[in-house]
Amino acid sequence: MRTQARSGSALALLPAIVVFATLSAFSGAADAQRKERLGKEVVDAVCGACHVPGKDKAPKIGDAKAWAGRASQGLTALTDHALKGIRNMPAHGGSSGVSDIEIERAIIYMVNRSGGHWVEPVGGATPAVVRSSEMIVQNQCAKCHQSGQDGAPKIGDRPAWIPRLKKGLDPLVASAIHGHGPMPARGGMPDLSDQEIRGAIVYMFNYGLPATPPAPAARAMPADPHHKLVSGTDIYLGMVRAEAMRAAQAQVKKTSAAKVDIPSGKGYYHLNISLADNKSQVPVTDAQVKVRVSDGMTTESKALGLVAANNAVSYGNFFRFSSGNAYNITAEIRRPGVAGAIEAKFDFKAP
Ligand code: HEC
Ligand code: HEC
Repeated sequence: MRTQARSGSALALLPAIVVFATLSAFSGAADAQRKERLGKEVVDAVCGACHVPGKDKAPKIGDAKAWAGRASQGLTALTDHALKGIRNMPAHGGSSGVSDIEIERAIIYMVNRSGGHWVEPVGGATPAVVRSSEMIVQNQCAKCHQSGQDGAPKIGDRPAWIPRLKKGLDPLVASAIHGHGPMPARGGMPDLSDQEIRGAIVYMFNYGLPATPPAPAARAMPADPHHKLVSGTDIYLGMVRAEAMRAAQAQVKKTSAAKVDIPSGKGYYHLNISLADNKSQVPVTDAQVKVRVSDGMTTESKALGLVAANNAVSYGNFFRFSSGNAYNITAEIRRPGVAGAIEAKFDFKAP
């Protein structure tokens, strides 16, 4: 029973998908359980007074051009403006009896009557639909990212995503929000929240990984000497002998974009640090990672680069260790937007 509960996060997707499917099949149908009015009802009762005739330059319902520019701000921004009021648009459409969710529905209704394709939010409490990343990707992003249309990085193609992730996850999310070239703003789904876009990107990046990303995070034991939890960040140390990597690389065709230059000579290890946000278990890919290796006499310090290793993203570089010696390994991690660095110390004895 316990084990079933543990896999709950994966199973939790199922009801979400069912809810989504039900909603799209019956969208617009009156739902007796809902206290909130549907978008059309709110528009008929309140918003239509100005948005049907276009009073005071209110964007008219059905005027695709007037709505397209405004819709590109996304649902969150539009809702915020409609709740607080903007220029001649009164707060709550001038009717304090309209709930937040009703405002959202009314906006979605008007946008959809004006050439848009937005999805109505479910439920009363949540401000927007909670859609799983899988659903978003399969329903929308896959249109281009499945086949790699127009150079879109393919789902699960980590070598294609890693160079883009080098800028960090936040700039990538911002880039997807604004769109560029053949990549439409918000992936062509204007009502996606920033959080949903982030989830969709991480999903596309991690697609095909055998375990919950990053791979070592899933089964970490509390006493694992290669795992530290510092300031809400899971930090994992991995050591791979250069000899083993050379042997593996010899078997891989030269096409592998993630190919690394492996130093020759004895005693080299590829030291890699993987990071994950402890709460969400989302891999951290926007950090600066530096490592100091000390045997008590000498210290070697190097920056680690973003690499695809162990079928997940980590930060790595090569260090040389002498067989039989004990080392202190200190990882210093800086994240954008986080003041100072966090440090994790590991012990390593070279076999
Ligand atoms: C008294 C007239 C009036 C009513 C009633 C009204 N609106 Fe508006 N609305 C306006 C005007 C005028 C604008 C254009 C404001 C501007 O951009 O200068 C506008 C703009 C908007 C915008 C675009 C905001 C943006 O950021 O560009 C949204 C969204 C909106 N209204 C939603 C609603 C909703 C939802 C309702 C009903 C609950 C509603 N309005 C009722 C007059 C009204
Ligand atoms: C109409 C086709 C299309 C759809 C739909 C689409 N994308 Fe894209 N996307 C592209 C193309 C093409 C690129 C490559 C653009 C470039 O680098 O010039 C791209 C690039 C990206 C990038 C990388 C941006 C960068 O700065 O490197 C991200 C992130 C992204 N898409 C996310 C998404 C998400 C999330 C969705 C779904 C919500 C989505 N895309 C839907 C075509 C699409």
